[in-house]
Amino acid sequence: MANIHIRKYQDDDADSVKEVFICGMSEHVPSSFTHMLKQPLTQMVLMCTFCALMTSSKSFLLPILAVTFLLAGARQTVVYLFNRYIDTSFKKDLNSISQTYLQSKDSCFWVAEGDGRVVGTVACLPANPETAPGCLQLKRMSVRRSHRRMGIAKALCRTVADFTRDRGYAAVVLHTSVVQTDAQKLYEHMGYKKIREFVAPELSAKIMNFTLFEYRLDLQRDGEKD
Ligand SMILES: CC(C)(COP(=O)(O)OP(=O)(O)OC[C@H]1O[C@@H](n2cnc3c(N)ncnc32)[C@H](O)[C@@H]1OP(=O)(O)O)[C@@H](O)C(=O)NCCC(=O)NCCS
Repeated sequence: MANIHIRKYQDDDADSVKEVFICGMSEHVPSSFTHMLKQPLTQMVLMCTFCALMTSSKSFLLPILAVTFLLAGARQTVVYLFNRYIDTSFKKDLNSISQTYLQSKDSCFWVAEGDGRVVGTVACLPANPETAPGCLQLKRMSVRRSHRRMGIAKALCRTVADFTRDRGYAAVVLHTSVVQTDAQKLYEHMGYKKIREFVAPELSAKIMNFTLFEYRLDLQRDGEKD
């Protein structure tokens, strides 16, 4: 963590923040594709296509070509879904970080700066009051690959926890997914408890059995510290 400084987002950081976010999300494409291949439905479709074409054409070439085509299509679909998620995130908050996070006292966006550039990001804002009343939600956690395993994400987690406690909220909640295994380890390391597992309602998520996890960190008030 030497030479890493965590500070509030400034408008000049906009492009770097988007770059860190895009890299962090795009790296999950291969693991999501592998996750899709492990699903029984995917394996059944591939197997049935192979066997049906093998029986009808009495040749190996057509079924192999068909399965290759299906695999390429599946991979492109995963890329498309990630790009769509990135696009949605830009429209939701990353194109307007100051307006979304810096105009209310209960939300904030931070960057970790190292070697003169943004190497990590995190944000928080009030969580959905129906599902997580009295909580802030941690979002947009990402660290550049070149700066991983240096404790930057841990420091960003602590920044969010301190902010949440200072604002009088009881807990931090967040969502992550089945393929974000480093993030799961990070949050568990930081004391977060997994409180819910669910598959997103979109058809693509159901087909891929793309499970989301909700984590929660209950905070001690100052007087409760031991
Ligand atoms: C998850 C992520 C933010 C972790 O960033 P990081 O700065 O490397 O994390 P830290 O160095 O602070 O590590 C904190 C702890 O997390 C766990 N951890 C993080 N990466 C890990 C890995 N590759 N393998 C095993 N444990 C890991 C460890 O417990 C680690 O503590 P330790 O180093 O003392 O063992 C980073 O991998 C990332 O940006 N991933 C892509 C974007 C993403 O998925 N974001 C999460 C959105 S919910």
